[in-house]
Amino acid sequence: MSRVVLVTGSSRGIGAATARAFAREGDAVVVHGRDVGAIENVRADIGSKLGVAADLTDFHQIEEMRHRIEDELGPVEVVVANAGGNTTPPGDVEAMPVDEFRSIVDMNLTATFLTLKSFLPGMKERGRGSIVAISSAASRRAHVRNPVAYAAAKAGIEHVMKVVALQAGPSGVRANCIAPETIMTEGNERDIPRDFIPKMIEMHPIRRLGTPDDVARAAVFLASDEASWITGVVLDVAGGSVVV
Ligand SMILES: NC(=O)c1ccc[n+]([C@@H]2O[C@H](COP(=O)([O-])OP(=O)(O)OC[C@H]3O[C@@H](n4cnc5c(N)ncnc54)[C@H](OP(=O)(O)O)[C@@H]3O)[C@@H](O)[C@H]2O)c1
Repeated sequence: MSRVVLVTGSSRGIGAATARAFAREGDAVVVHGRDVGAIENVRADIGSKLGVAADLTDFHQIEEMRHRIEDELGPVEVVVANAGGNTTPPGDVEAMPVDEFRSIVDMNLTATFLTLKSFLPGMKERGRGSIVAISSAASRRAHVRNPVAYAAAKAGIEHVMKVVALQAGPSGVRANCIAPETIMTEGNERDIPRDFIPKMIEMHPIRRLGTPDDVARAAVFLASDEASWITGVVLDVAGGSVVV
């Protein structure tokens, strides 16, 4: 049965691969981001009926997006809360500008909270739904070069999702996280220096770096009925690099 699936931040990167993977399953996928041109490219490429632009740090824009999806496709059964990222380098905690800290928490933790706030009530009312949030392997590691605002925001997402799993489970809604290690998106292909890659590969028991499809396949599984007994987990998609 075709479900309505929203993948936030699917105008590029992991989100675009995830949107493509759900479309392959026959779901009605909504492509989302802020860059209208990039949204349209992915939408046309995967044969989706709907692309929507909304800044997820603004609850009003999320509510408008939800109403538009419900009007055009019907209620959303699966949300992959993928939008986010990190724009700040690692460094001493006290040296981080306040605005930068707030902006990273906003684009990751607050954006995920606002997405849940908009989509959860309908799922609970209908007694059916699955939410998969994308956190990060960064949330586990408190090493000195940790990008602290990003890691703290992702750890916050994992906590919020566990609480949602407890609160929404009795209403038939599941909530899980995927925590990826470095994934070779277009952005990382561009930004990671070539000569650093062999060293990164060495840190993974499975001797390669992750691909957007590695995360996409995990998201499709967690959102499926095959995973109907799985809720409140953080699934490491990390080539074994986080095993301690
Ligand atoms: N790549 C990795 O190595 C890696 C590892 C662990 C976790 N992650 C997590 O996986 C997710 C996807 O990462 P990625 O590397 O694929 O990122 P990406 O290529 O930079 O894409 C980020 C997506 O999120 C959207 N987005 C960001 N802020 C937004 C906002 N305020 N409102 C609406 N949309 C917003 C972007 O939309 P526009 O571009 O259209 O504005 C874009 O579609 C992120 O949560 C990231 O933290 C990534």
